[in-house]
Formats: sequence, structure tokens, C-alpha cells
Amino acid sequence: MPILKAEGLSVDYFTQRGRLHAVSDVSFSLEEGESLGIVGESGSGKTTLATALLKLLPMNAEVVSGRVEIQGMDVLSMDEESLNKSLRWRVVSYVPQASQNALDPLYRIDDQFVETVHAHVDMPREEILHKAMELLLRVGVEPSKLRSYPWELSGGQKQRVMIALSLILKPKIVILDEPTTALDTIIQAQILELFRELKEYERLTAIFISHDISVISNVANRVGVMYAGRLVELGSSESVFYTPLHPYTQGLLKSVPDLRSDTPYSYIPGSPPDLVSPPSGCPFHPRCPLAMEICKKINPALEAYDGEHLVACHAVKR
Ligand SMILES: Nc1ncnc2c1ncn2[C@@H]1O[C@H](COP(=O)(O)OP(=O)(O)OP(=O)(O)O)[C@@H](O)[C@H]1O
Ligand code: SF4
Ligand SMILES: [Mg+2]
Repeated sequence: MPILKAEGLSVDYFTQRGRLHAVSDVSFSLEEGESLGIVGESGSGKTTLATALLKLLPMNAEVVSGRVEIQGMDVLSMDEESLNKSLRWRVVSYVPQASQNALDPLYRIDDQFVETVHAHVDMPREEILHKAMELLLRVGVEPSKLRSYPWELSGGQKQRVMIALSLILKPKIVILDEPTTALDTIIQAQILELFRELKEYERLTAIFISHDISVISNVANRVGVMYAGRLVELGSSESVFYTPLHPYTQGLLKSVPDLRSDTPYSYIPGSPPDLVSPPSGCPFHPRCPLAMEICKKINPALEAYDGEHLVACHAVKR
């Protein structure tokens, strides 16, 4: 049985220009111990998807359709109290995008660890601080920083404190939104190694969201590619990275600069569509080098190409 399942999830925002379709008909499931990487350009709906999974959407958002199941719980029908008591932090924790700003500037880091734990379980302060120190060491932050205020830490240290905080209650699932953007490459590698170990030895399930494909390729065993609020390709990391099927995924991979090669790197022409009035048919058609007549009329469904490798594209022969 999957530990997390999203089925036909669609989310709109109410904006001054009308409804903005941020996430459209997204379905996927994760087994315990799997790690899913979600990639896509800015504005493709990654953060909206993550916050919808935990019912943390802002006030102007509406889940138009779909269902989210985590460890058998029907998340979208739960009220705030039961979400906080039975789901958030204990079963799933979330490291939000720009998480370094999520720490409260008025409280020391040790108090923030204690507050967070006490909001969910009873545990002596000493035990919490002991666990916090262990976790800080694992994310490469000097444990003495527990006595600091957030404004005494660098952006990267704050981001790593948030990652440590997300692990304090030993959740089964962690959702990390752009977890390594404020980190240099050496610290980034250390964090990615930590998650590899947690996956291997503690069967942690993780969703990594990043616009940086190299981060995802280092840590995820499955990859989902989002475009204009839709999952357009989903499969094992090997299949998506070595045999990308969707023209958008192919374009994304070609746009990764290779420092050791002279080949000029390419980019995807055009810009992502306006999600208030997205293009008809396949939303990628105005930018797609393979677009055909049918692409302007019919939005292709995400369907199996080869076993677990799914793609939404009329040009892919099955
Ligand atoms: N609170 C909001 N109100 C209205 N529109 C929003 C809101 N939050 C996001 N959007 C819009 O929803 C779409 C998806 O945004 P989202 O933040 O999910 O994208 P993203 O893939 O996480 O982008 P990034 O890589 O820049 O973080 C975008 O068009 C964005 O402008
Ligand atoms: S469905 Fe058509 S427009 Fe869309 S990605 Fe495939 S070929 Fe391109
Ligand atoms: Mg985002």
C-alpha cells in the first residue's frame, strides 16, 4: 500500500484576473522509502502541489478536485486540529521554500526546537535538545548554535536548522521545497548524503522539489516533471534522465550547463504560459519543436510508455 497518494489533484487561486489553474489533475503515489524529485520551471506549480498535499494552501486557493491520502488518512477532509495532532510533523514534515525565513527572529534556536516538539508530543527539554544537537551535527551546523537567535546565523545555516527541525519527530515523510538553494555545493552534497542515509537506513520517504535537475538526480529514485501545473513525465530517475520522452524534459536536460564541455548549452525558447488562460490542447504546444495539429486541440493524458515510465505527449509512440 502506498504511504502517500495524490489522485486527480487540481488547485486554483482566485486572482484579480480570474481563476489561475496552478495545479491540474496531478496523480502519483509513493511507497515507503521512495524519494520523488519534482522539477519544473518557476511557476509550474511545484510549491502549490506541496502545500496542497499537506492542506497548507493560502486563503485564496481552492482544491477544485482530487484526493490526498497519507498513511491511509484522507488529508483534505481533515480539520486543522486533527491535521496538527495526527499528521503534520509526526507523519509528514515540510521544509518550505525560503525556509530560512520561517524561523521566528524573537526566539533562540533551542526554544524553537522545544516549542515545535511540545506542540505535538510531551518530551523533556533535555531530551529534545540532545536530539537537536545530534541533528545539527548531521546537517553540519555547530551544536553551540542552539543558543543563537536566527539573525545570528547565515542563510545557509538557517536553512540547515530548518532541515534538522523537520527531522526532530522522526517523520515517515519529509517534503522539502528547494531545500538547498541557500547552500554552497559542499554543504549541499552533505545534506543530500544525509537524506540518502535516512532513506537507506530509516526508510524515510521524501519529496524533493527543485528547479535544479542536478540536485534531483543526486537524491531521487523517481522523478516527476511539471509543466503549467501538470505532471508531464514521471518515472525512475534513470529512465527520465537517460531516456527523457517529453520534449519539455528533453529541453530542460539540454539546458543544464556542462562545465567540462565546450558545447554551447541550449534553452527552451518562449516562456511558461499564463495559467489564468492557458493555451488550448497541450499547454507546451506554443514552445514545442514537435507540435502537431492535434496538440493545439487535445491535451494528452499522462499514460504509460514503458511500465512505470509515464508521459503526456501525442508524439510519443507507445
Ligand atoms: N498565493 C497565490 N495567489 C495567486 N497566485 C499564486 C499564489 N501562489 C502561487 N501563485 C501562482 O500559481 C502558479 C504556481 O506557483 P507555484 O509557487 O506553485 O510555482 P513553483 O513551481 O513553486 O515556482 P518557483 O520555482 O518559482 O518556486 C504561478 O503562476 C504563481 O504565480
Ligand atoms: S503533445 Fe504535442 S505539443 Fe505537447 S509536448 Fe507532445 S508534441 Fe509537443
Ligand atoms: Mg516554489
